[in-house]
Order: sequence, then structure tokens, then C-alpha cells
Amino acid sequence: MNVTAELKPAATLAGSPSGPLTGVVRVSGDKSISHRALILGGLASGETRITGLLEGDDVLNTAKAVRALGADVERIGTGEWRVRGAEWQSPPVPVDCGNSGTGARLLMGAAAGFPIELKFTGDASLSGRPMERVLGPLRAMGAETVGSTLPVTIRGGNLRGIHFVNEKASAQVKSAILLAGLRAAGEVEVVEPSQSRDHSENMLRAFGCDVETVDGTVRLGERRSLTGTNVVVPGDPSSAAFPIVAALIVRGSEVTVRNVMVNPLRTGLLTTLREMGADLSFANERDEGGEQVADVTVRASDLRGVEIPASRAPSMIDEYPILGVAAAFARGRSVMQGLSELRVKESDRLAAIIAGLRACGIDARDEGDSLIVEGVGGLPPGGASVQAHHDHRIAMSFLVLGLAARQPVTVDSADMIATSFPDFVPLMQSLGARVA
Ligand code: S3P
Repeated sequence: MNVTAELKPAATLAGSPSGPLTGVVRVSGDKSISHRALILGGLASGETRITGLLEGDDVLNTAKAVRALGADVERIGTGEWRVRGAEWQSPPVPVDCGNSGTGARLLMGAAAGFPIELKFTGDASLSGRPMERVLGPLRAMGAETVGSTLPVTIRGGNLRGIHFVNEKASAQVKSAILLAGLRAAGEVEVVEPSQSRDHSENMLRAFGCDVETVDGTVRLGERRSLTGTNVVVPGDPSSAAFPIVAALIVRGSEVTVRNVMVNPLRTGLLTTLREMGADLSFANERDEGGEQVADVTVRASDLRGVEIPASRAPSMIDEYPILGVAAAFARGRSVMQGLSELRVKESDRLAAIIAGLRACGIDARDEGDSLIVEGVGGLPPGGASVQAHHDHRIAMSFLVLGLAARQPVTVDSADMIATSFPDFVPLMQSLGARVA
């Protein structure tokens, strides 16, 4: 079923012990691909048609920004958008990226290519997040910048090439450099010691730009102009993670999530869940719009603790909150290494996961940049009120925990769920989950 109901959740929601979850659902479009489709469409000559765009707040802010920068951006139906690119102009008011680090950092890179000056703003969470990781390379390419956290002002144009080593394995940093590089003179190279998601490279190619990846180095080629195209946005694996883990931990469940993107640079969670003993299978694997997708079926399973190396973090960086929940139900200890980046996400996620798990009666702690969860091998107590710290993924994770705990779990700032997964509540309810 395709759930399209509008959601305006109250600020507080509860996840309560639920019967078996069953059904077939489709999650909304991938957030990373949705941002990129709007931005690349806004830079391209001619028309771009987007199908399945995620209409969450983060992406809608990017749509507004691309329009304010001069492109023609039009919504023609649910998830159906038409974009006509333009030479970007200084917008009359600051570009407000809301809660979205991806929107802010990719737009900064793309805008820096033009001889314009513009200011970026965002909400309280985004205003506390580091922007220097993008501004440093943009300055090295010739842009002028003021501020290291939002508000940030950028004066762009006349850029030169760069050779950059992406030590943080950040796809946002890589993408900002590639987007700025579209209008730079000289070689643009990003070396990735550990590969981050490659959606920008894939989509730049689909828009006609030369991009090659050889031995861990991403390089823009001679042809850097973009031509509008059709983009079909696959289902977001980072959203699918919530019904998938819910089905694993609620006894007797069987759920299929259709049309999930299974690009190997995004499937670290699924690999990990399998190692934990999850009954999880793929069907109907296919290529859609340059990305691999599959229907994922999951059945409730007895999970065991797992050790996850730091090298896997880039392929599941947004999934640690919900993995922390799965680990709470597993038998034995789980150790997740290399999580320093979690401290600078929409909240300090390492701290938020630990505090939430402890409030629910689960022993969890950090050691350096590792997260350690002592699984109860059964049903944890729950019965807590968890602070989501205005972080959508923390809110959804603890609502899922409440579905299989002994007592309901309440979360605050549940309205933030609309940034990435506006259909979360009706979709989970359609499976039989008690989220309200
Ligand atoms: C994203 C990259 C990741 C991820 C974010 C989306 C992207 O951030 O956490 O939600 O679309 O490029 P980093 O690249 O900073 O790790």
C-alpha cells in the first residue's frame, strides 16, 4: 500500500506494545537523492522531471532555495516536480535550510560556483552544526566565506580546482566540492580513504557530466555542464529502517517494504541485522533510475549482539539510533565503533541514544567514539519519556522501541519526524503499530 495521508503530529507521541506487525508498504523517496535531484535540476539546462520526490520539510526547504536562486521549480502532483535550471542569482533574502545539513552543505557548494553573494540560515539544530568542513575546501577553491556555523555568507565565482582528501568520509563534503567544481577551472579531485554514498556521482553522470571514480578518487572530467533529465527517486533505506527493525522486534511480525534503495553504500544496517540473525530477504532486485532497488521482507527474529567495525559507519551513518534499539533486544553485547560523526548530526546522537536507552532500562554507554549496548535478549522495560532533542531519527527510533517494550515509550519533539518521513505514523499504524 502507498500511504499518502498528511501528517501533522503533535509534539509528543507514544509507541505502545503492539501485536504482530503485518503488511506491505512503500516508504517515501530517498532524502539524499531528493535534495540532489532539485539542486542538479536547478543547475541544468532544460527541464528535469522528478518522480517520487520526498516531500519532507528538509527537501521542501531545498526546493524553495533552488527557486529563490533563480531556477523554475514547480510541483505538478504528489512527488512529481518539474525544474528548469538557470544561472543562479543572489536571492533577495537569506537561504533558510531549516533542519537540513545536506541541503545547506550541497547548496553552499553549488552556489559557490556563481559570482553571487548569499547568506545561509537554519534552525537551532543546524545553526550548531559545523560548516567549516565545507567552507574550508570552498575557500581553497577561491570562494570567500564569513562564519563557520550558520548564519554563513558566501561570495562565489571564479573558482579553481582542488585536490581534497575526504577524511571524514562525508558525502556532503564530497558533494559540495563536486558541485562547486562544475564551474571551476582546473582539476577537481576528491580522494576517499573510506567511500561515502555515491549518489552525487551517479546523478551527475545521469545529467551528462563526466565523473570518474578510480582507486578511491572521484574526479570531474572535461564535460561539466548538466542537461535536464528524468529522475525517479527510489524508497529511502534510512526510512525503511524503522518498519524493518520494528518487524524484527515485535513478535510474530512479517513486513515487506517495497522499492527500497539497496545501493551497497547505504545497506550497512541490513548487513548488520543479518549478522545479528535477522530473517531478512530481498526480492525483485532491479535497477531504477541508476540506483539498485529491491523489495525487502523481514520476519520477527531472535537477535544476537554484534561488533560493527568503524569501516562500516559511512554505509549506515544515519541508522545507528535504530540499530541501538535493535541491539537493546538482542542477546548479549553490541559494540559499534567509529561513531564520532554522530556527535555532530541533527543532535549529539551518541548522547541521545545512550540517554534514551538508559531511560528505557537498557544498559548503554560510550567508550571513546564507540557505542556499547548490553542487549536484554528479550523485552526491555520501556515505560519512559525520552527526549528526542529535536532529532527526527531519535524520535522514530524510540517510538519503535516502545512497540516491543513492556511499557509504552513517549518521545518529545515528534513533529521533527516530518523533516524526513512525513508518513511515518500512518505507515506504522497501517502495519498494526500503536503509535499515537
Ligand atoms: C548525506 C550524507 C550523510 C548523512 C546525511 C545525508 C547526504 O552525512 O548523514 O543524512 O545526502 O550526502 P555526511 O556526508 O556528513 O556523513
